[in-house]
Amino acid sequence: MHKLLKFIKNMTVFAGAVLTVAHLETHSLKKVTYDIDGENVPESLIGKRIAMFSDFHNSSRQISVKRIMRKLDEINPLFVLIPGDMIVGNSTNFEPAISLLTAISAKYKVYLAPGNHERKLIRLKEKYGPTIEKYIEAIPENCEYLSNAHTKLEIGDDIINIYGLDINLSYYARFEIPELSQEYIEEKIGKKDDDGYTILLAHNPDYFKEYERWGADLVVSGHNHGGMVRLPILGGVISPRIIFFPEYDRGLYKYNDSNMILTSGIGQHSIKLRLNNKPEICEIRFKG
Ligand SMILES: [Fe+2]
Repeated sequence: MHKLLKFIKNMTVFAGAVLTVAHLETHSLKKVTYDIDGENVPESLIGKRIAMFSDFHNSSRQISVKRIMRKLDEINPLFVLIPGDMIVGNSTNFEPAISLLTAISAKYKVYLAPGNHERKLIRLKEKYGPTIEKYIEAIPENCEYLSNAHTKLEIGDDIINIYGLDINLSYYARFEIPELSQEYIEEKIGKKDDDGYTILLAHNPDYFKEYERWGADLVVSGHNHGGMVRLPILGGVISPRIIFFPEYDRGLYKYNDSNMILTSGIGQHSIKLRLNNKPEICEIRFKG
């Protein structure tokens, strides 16, 4: 009996410590820097910085708009990229996401793409009416919402193409990674524009090789939340697909001439747990 009480006491202390660390982590915010180089980086981007974050999930209670703005101002980016999941897909409360977009877009041009949570809004239509349309309508003017869409920038003498890919929810299925064909990608965003440097906002990182084959020079992605709990050497433990130790969890990945920056994101939903995996904003620096 004495041993059992001691065990229960130790487990309670352990659980308390884990919850305290998890609480502190979900309320902290760091900046991570990635350098992108290679022959395909255009001259006019060299020495410039862009900012990227993902998976905000309406988490302004944990990380305030002010703190996010402070980090973005440290970077002072050319523009800000957000590859999806600004909101939580089972709620019609867009206020935290729109407040953040309003604050950012007052200072910086924003390009954002939908994630699976924006897609989930379509399913709420029967219950609440045209929710995704309401969300898109509320997005401030200086933010460009790229849902299977493309925009072309001229920076110096160079052209930068920014694409936002929005794939069906079936490509986010649990326990498996369904094949994503080139035909499907082209049906959604067309063939890659041959002119200029191509940045692809693609919420789902599991298809990096398919994005490279399509022609992306730089992919920015989120969704996997860094694997939620990160272990030394082994990395992220679990992805939202319920795949243990996913191939892509967080960081910079290279495949042929393409780079993918996968962020662990800012917020969380459902299970609000992060361990050794602080919320982050990415600074992307272009080198020659
Ligand atoms: Fe997601």
